[in-house]
Amino acid sequence: MKEQSNILVIGGTGKTGRKVANKLTKAGHNVRIGSRSTSPSFDWDDSETWGHALRGMDKVYITFQPDLAVPGALAAIEELTKQAKRADVKKLVLLSGKGEPEAELCEQVVIHSGLAYTIVRASWFNQNFSESFFLEPILEGFVALPQADVKVPYVDTDDIADVAVEALLHNKHDGKIYQLTGPRTLTFREVIQEIAEATQRDIAFTPIALSAYIHVMKEQGVPADFIWLIEYLFTEVLGNPNTAEITNDIEQVLGRPPKDFSEYIKETTTAGIWNPLVTN
Ligand SMILES: NC(=O)c1ccc[n+]([C@@H]2O[C@H](COP(=O)([O-])OP(=O)(O)OC[C@H]3O[C@@H](n4cnc5c(N)ncnc54)[C@H](OP(=O)(O)O)[C@@H]3O)[C@@H](O)[C@H]2O)c1
Repeated sequence: MKEQSNILVIGGTGKTGRKVANKLTKAGHNVRIGSRSTSPSFDWDDSETWGHALRGMDKVYITFQPDLAVPGALAAIEELTKQAKRADVKKLVLLSGKGEPEAELCEQVVIHSGLAYTIVRASWFNQNFSESFFLEPILEGFVALPQADVKVPYVDTDDIADVAVEALLHNKHDGKIYQLTGPRTLTFREVIQEIAEATQRDIAFTPIALSAYIHVMKEQGVPADFIWLIEYLFTEVLGNPNTAEITNDIEQVLGRPPKDFSEYIKETTTAGIWNPLVTN
C-alpha cells in the first residue's frame, strides 16, 4: 500500500504552493495549507502561530514571504527549523532563489538542521508576468523597467511544483540542491514583445534607470520594505553574471524537459489574463 504523508505547505495558496498542495492532495496525501488565511493560521510575522501548523506534520514545503534575502529571513528560518524538529517533522523542502547569496545562508540552516531536506533553488518565475507585479503594467499597455537587456532563464511554476512534489515524496532527492531554470533566456524587452505578439496588443516597452524606477515606486507610496526588495532583486540577482545560466535539473528530476516560455504565453493568453483593461 502507498504510504500517506501529512504535509504542511507554507504559502499553499501562492504561485508554487497551491500547485504543490493540489498535486499532493490528488496523490492521496494529507495536506495542510499554511498561510495567514487558513486555520490554524501560519504567519511569518508571528512565530507563535507556527507550532499549531507544524503539529502532526511529517514533511514541510517552505515558501518564505516575501523573499529569503530580506533582513529577518535567516532568523525566521532558524526558528522554523527548530520548531519543526520539536514537532518531529522528518523532511523540509525549501524554495529558494537562484543568485541570492542571502537566500543561500537560509539554505545552510535547512541543510544543517539534521532533518532530511531538498533545496529547490529557482530562477525568476514566468508567472511574475501574470500573477505578480509585472501584470499591471502589461494590462495598461506600458511597461518601463530597468535591466532591460539582462537575459533571464524564466522557469514555470508548474515545473517548480512538480520538482517540489517529487522531492517531498521520494527520499532519493534527500540532500540535493536543485537549480531550476527554463530552457532559454529572455530579456524583459523580448518577454514584452512575445506577449504583445501573442495577445495582438500594443504594449510599449521603455528601458529606464533603476533610480527612476525606484523614484516612481516611492511617489506611488509603495512600502519601503518592498522597494528595498525590488532594488535588491534588480541589482543582486539581475546584476549577477550567472543569472543567465541554464541548468538541466528539471529534466534530471522529472525525466522531461522544462516548459518553454512560449507554452506559458499560449496558456496565459488562452486564459485571458492579459486581456486589456476596459476603462469606462
Ligand atoms: N517570484 C519569483 O520569481 C521567485 C523566484 C525564486 C524564488 N522565489 C521565492 O518564492 C517564494 C514565494 O514568493 P512569491 O512572490 O512567488 O509568493 P507566493 O508564493 O505567490 O506567495 C503568496 C503565498 O504566501 C502567503 N503569505 C503571504 N504573506 C504571508 C505571511 N506573512 N505569512 C504567511 N504566509 C504568507 C499567501 O497567503 P496569505 O495571503 O493567505 O497569507 C500565499 O499563500 C519567496 O520566498 C521567493 O523568494 C520567487
